[in-house]
Amino acid sequence: MTILVTGGAGFIGSNFIFYWLDKHPEDKVICLDKLTYAGNLSTLRPVMDSPSFKFVKGDICDKKLVFELFKNERPEYVVNFAAESHVDRSITGPEVFLQTNYMGTATLLEACREFGVGRYHQVSTDEVYGDLPLDRPDLFFTEDSPLHTSSPYSASKAAADLLVQSYVRTFGAPATISRCSNNYGPYQFPEKFIPLMVINALNDEPLPVYGDGLNVRDWLFVEDHCRAIELILRGGRVGEIYNIGGHNEWRNIDVVRLVLQELNRPESLVQYVSDRKGHDRRYAIDPEKIRDELGWLPQTGFEGGLKRTLRWYLDNRPWWRDIVSGEYREYYQKMYGGR
Ligand code: NAD
Ligand code: TYD
Repeated sequence: MTILVTGGAGFIGSNFIFYWLDKHPEDKVICLDKLTYAGNLSTLRPVMDSPSFKFVKGDICDKKLVFELFKNERPEYVVNFAAESHVDRSITGPEVFLQTNYMGTATLLEACREFGVGRYHQVSTDEVYGDLPLDRPDLFFTEDSPLHTSSPYSASKAAADLLVQSYVRTFGAPATISRCSNNYGPYQFPEKFIPLMVINALNDEPLPVYGDGLNVRDWLFVEDHCRAIELILRGGRVGEIYNIGGHNEWRNIDVVRLVLQELNRPESLVQYVSDRKGHDRRYAIDPEKIRDELGWLPQTGFEGGLKRTLRWYLDNRPWWRDIVSGEYREYYQKMYGGR
């Protein structure tokens, strides 16, 4: 069986590839990735020489390339992780988000229609639901919550979800969608909250906390997300949306404090900076559907998962040092300089 994983040189996609090859060594995994700033070929080094793995550099918006790939490889499963994924970048430059996240999904769906697949899975996000108020801890996102996007990133993801649903209804596409909460774990790009805080703490540099630091995110260890996607591919019902989250809500400032404590760094490194535009207050997933239908439950608690993640960043300095010394410096200066 051949499975096509797009965006597999990024954070979650690479973890998914490792997970899949480990669990299904008999399958062939093809990774299609454009290697944008967020994609890293060195991440895939452990599997690069495996006969079960093939890397293809390319853009999911490139119809000719995508069709050629489908024609030659005939993937049974397609899992689309490829995306522009950082909210802050979508605020300074939304266009590429619309292109990759929407048009890229459109191209993949067309290829599935043309060549036929067993399953197409769209990796979406809980951010399509907008945010929840801090003073209503009884409220959670369910699959029926209205789409209510706040950023160009989440709007582009919601648009793609709607397109997937339209292909199910109109063309009978065998597609599913998952909407997961915030992930953390090995190989996450340093621009994202947890790795950024870890790396800055290790470098004894200020930790920039947006606004009042009271925004809440619902954190899930990346491997739990990968297992959920596997269950959806295997047993999820076509046309359905599955929310993924582990009831693990944390205020940003408390995550920062935990990181500092684990790394033995002083709280004086915390620096409150001006808030993100349109900053969502709280995300919180109701995972009842995936639990009841597919028996999914998270297996990694936050303290344990965070310890594993910190250990990974400590043990893999060359991986992130290469990244933070390159064009990332310019990005950091632009995003945080004088903020
Ligand atoms: P990431 O930014 O780490 O990786 C994205 C990958 O996609 C990179 O390897 C990049 O090179 C590739 N890519 C970008 N544009 C491409 C294009 N046009 N063609 C081919 N490849 C392209 O992202 P991530 O955090 O791993 O997120 C993966 C997916 O999961 C995204 O769709 C995101 O919306 C979704 N998601 C992420 C989270 C999270 O917490 N990180 C939570 C829920 C959902
Ligand atoms: P992020 O990792 O960008 O994910 P999300 O898609 O949920 O916004 O940010 C997680 C939270 O951390 C979010 O509330 C914004 C906040 N944040 C900071 O306070 N400082 C930072 O430097 C970054 C990158 C994020």
